[in-house]
Amino acid sequence: MNIAEYPEPIDTFVRWLHEHVTITKSSYSSACILSTQGLDGFPNARNVSLKCIEKPYFIITGSTLSRKGKEIETHPKVALTFWWEETKRQVRIQGTASQISEKDAHFFFKDRSYESQIVSSISKQGMPLKKLESLRVRFRESIKSQRPIEKPTHWSGWKIKPYRIEFLEFNTSRFHNRVLYTQSEDSWNITQLQP
Ligand SMILES: Cc1cc2nc3c(=O)[nH]c(=O)nc-3n(C[C@H](O)[C@H](O)[C@H](O)COP(=O)(O)O)c2cc1C
Repeated sequence: MNIAEYPEPIDTFVRWLHEHVTITKSSYSSACILSTQGLDGFPNARNVSLKCIEKPYFIITGSTLSRKGKEIETHPKVALTFWWEETKRQVRIQGTASQISEKDAHFFFKDRSYESQIVSSISKQGMPLKKLESLRVRFRESIKSQRPIEKPTHWSGWKIKPYRIEFLEFNTSRFHNRVLYTQSEDSWNITQLQP
């Protein structure tokens, strides 16, 4: 990657993501790892799906009552990490998360499959469960009824405004290409990093 050629990191990200999505066989092509600061101080990480990019925001969705939801509310500084095997590229994003609007949450909820909507509405994500079967029964009832599923009030999402974006591209020479973008006022500082 020629740094001077790509002064805008979000455009570079979109290009890299597109190249990955075009060739990957993974059915979770937009998966990434969301890292948060746990309420007990331990870092906490899990996969999520990147829903879209609305410059400069990276948007993800989920339950505000989940662990990640509570952690983001307390510590909005988060990280997203992408690893794309086929192109041998990694992108690390650090930024600040804020909740998306209710209108946007409705939009993303509608975009989910009917099955996913049901699960989001009957499952209190992350809470202890006595019997999986009780949820299965409610799931089957909903499927049978085919009633429209209302978005639960706690189902929403977060838009992450990047502060740092680091691109790494594996190189057969082992001199991996690492370029770090750091937000400064209205522009980005660009630094090539040693591998
Ligand atoms: C490939 C993949 C994609 C996922 N996408 C999402 C997602 O977009 N939103 C979400 O809430 N959970 C998603 N999950 C489930 C999360 O990894 C996690 O189990 C869940 O969000 C609960 O995490 P928490 O207890 O830290 O809040 C995904 C899991 C995998 C493996």
